[in-house]
Amino acid sequence: MYKVNENYLKLPGSYLFSTIGKKVAAYSAEHPEKTIIRLGIGDVTQPLAPAIIEALHKAVDEMGHAETFHGYAPDLGYEFLRNAIAKNDYQDRGADIQPDEIFVSDGAKCDSGNIQEIFGLDNKIAVCDPVYPVYVDTNVMAGRTGTYDPKTEMWSNVIYMPCTADNGFAPELPKETPDIIYLCFPNNPTGSTITKDQLQVWVDYANKVGAVIIYDAAYEAYISEENVPHSIYECEGAKTCAIELHSFSKNAGFTGVRLGYTVIPKELKCGDVSLHALWARRHGTKYNGAPYIVQRAGEAVYSEAGKAQLKEQVGYYMNNAKTILKGLQDAGYTVSGGVNAPYIWLKTPDKMNSWEFFDYLLENAGVVGTPGSGFGPSGEGYFRLTAFGSYENTVKALERIKAL
Ligand code: MLT
Repeated sequence: MYKVNENYLKLPGSYLFSTIGKKVAAYSAEHPEKTIIRLGIGDVTQPLAPAIIEALHKAVDEMGHAETFHGYAPDLGYEFLRNAIAKNDYQDRGADIQPDEIFVSDGAKCDSGNIQEIFGLDNKIAVCDPVYPVYVDTNVMAGRTGTYDPKTEMWSNVIYMPCTADNGFAPELPKETPDIIYLCFPNNPTGSTITKDQLQVWVDYANKVGAVIIYDAAYEAYISEENVPHSIYECEGAKTCAIELHSFSKNAGFTGVRLGYTVIPKELKCGDVSLHALWARRHGTKYNGAPYIVQRAGEAVYSEAGKAQLKEQVGYYMNNAKTILKGLQDAGYTVSGGVNAPYIWLKTPDKMNSWEFFDYLLENAGVVGTPGSGFGPSGEGYFRLTAFGSYENTVKALERIKAL
């Protein structure tokens, strides 16, 4: 009899956002009269910007003619897109990243889940707590973690770095030395950020102990403050210790279009093995590239018109963030995040735990958020709201929360 990958059996329950989706669907079916406002999953609501739509249309037309038709995309992605990324996201910001160090993909979620494949199973990972669940769950699936303790809600063989109000929701260097460190700033779920000096400490640490940092910069477009780095490669020495993940979902509304990229500098080596070469091998073997039309849409993100339109779109969501922050503060909640990130992190009131508050908010205000404990044990007693709703719904949700 064949055997399944038993690591999958270790995973408790379903994926966080699937669980929430099921709960909300069940509640809606029972209460069809209620209008539910969804500020749970970080999914965008604004339409694609005109410059992107125009590029999509044009690329679709090209696909309809033999002379301009495109089949398989190049392994690393089309040069026109990698050049635009290298210039706009790195070189113009003083980070020396070359187009051939960029791997275009169909999204940062897949890359953040798949990147662990190029590392040995005996590596120890360190994650922030709370954390985007994909980093941990994919390491569980691979067999890199031990067992799950339902009491502590922690996995053995994983180093947890608590991010709490006491440390400003920024991780401290772990006591035990990790091999692979996952960092995400601006942070999902807490919306916190770290300064360039703070990030430099992590880069220096990783280089010193021989660890690799997987840096998720999916929310970089939401940075509004000066001293917050947009990329880990703004730090000295990052090219010898860091991989960076990027998404087009949050800055350009591509959640339903799918596009992302991963940067692996050529200098990043484990002994004399190039991680760039390993990921290129993996990419070539398992992946046939993001669609041409989507990569053309990605290119439009960096056009003058695209940049202006997306600045406005990010501004729209950040205005929602401001509305949520102010509304919650007025209602007496303890809140953080929402300044350099589209997530607002609030302390649950009246000693309610995260899931109790989830039910309370759904039943009494018809508002869906994400329970902090779903992101890890240090998220217990917290709750995440996203700024990705429409402005009208955001205002309505806050009115309902204030009226509780
Ligand atoms: C979230 O809500 O945390 C995000 O939607 C996750 C994701 O981008 O996959």
